[in-house]
Amino acid sequence: MNSFDRAVSLEDSICEAAAILARARHIACLTGAGISAESGVSTFRDALTGLWSTFDPQRLASQEGFAEDPGFVWRWYMGRLAQVEQAQPNAGHRALAELERRTRTFTLVTQNVDNLHERAGSQDTLHLHGRINTFHCNECGAAYALSDEDRIAGLPPYCIHCGGWVRPSVVWFGEMLPEYALDEATRAAQQCDVMLVVGTSGIVYPAASLPEVALANGATVIDVNPEPNPISEVANYYLCGTGGVILPALMNAIVRVDRG
Ligand code: OAD
Repeated sequence: MNSFDRAVSLEDSICEAAAILARARHIACLTGAGISAESGVSTFRDALTGLWSTFDPQRLASQEGFAEDPGFVWRWYMGRLAQVEQAQPNAGHRALAELERRTRTFTLVTQNVDNLHERAGSQDTLHLHGRINTFHCNECGAAYALSDEDRIAGLPPYCIHCGGWVRPSVVWFGEMLPEYALDEATRAAQQCDVMLVVGTSGIVYPAASLPEVALANGATVIDVNPEPNPISEVANYYLCGTGGVILPALMNAIVRVDRG
């Protein structure tokens, strides 16, 4: 039974969760698209505004879709890149950067490709699903530096080494996650005393397994999300609200704990 089921008020739940975070030696944090929603970056599965409610993920985020229409896929990612570059980190991103600064060991694991955590001051973020502003050849894997012309081209550029199509370095459906990031994220889930989860629907694996690993290893799991989800159902604390509101409130409560 978590804080939501115990009918503890949100304010009391934030105070309890803050006391646990303030004492923690190792905090792991898993973020999803929801933390960037208040920066104006679209989520994937929110019913009206989510990208996958408007666009077919099989056409845009798979090898099959890329092979069928590379120009369509390229233009869509160039549009998303422009959206992400215009976005600014929000109060939720900044609160996590602050939490990292005051915690002995802090492992930030994100499914987001937008780099807003880094721009808010977070260090050493593990990117499970890649980054939208880096590019490589779909055939030989060689890194590619994007030019201004590439951004407005109707087709992806060709690799200068093998002539293959260049693509954004994001993980598509059916592809392996970056091994180092996944290994380190799993290690953090096994070793942390608290896992803070923010803004993920908790249905895309293996990322969604990290809170399960943390729980199985005795960690306290705190979920921040305006909507109940599979993680909030098993978390010790479900803080119902947006990242931009709940995370600064948590940080303020942690500061109060610190001051005694
Ligand atoms: P989803 O779009 O699946 O879920 C977004 C979650 O954020 C939902 O649970 C919302 O309730 C929540 N949310 C919305 N606004 C919020 C806010 N302001 N503050 C906090 N939470 C909010 O996004 P992800 O779980 O990140 O994969 O999706 C996982 C993966 O599925 C993505 O990384 C992407 C996608 O296919 C790849 O691209 C490989």
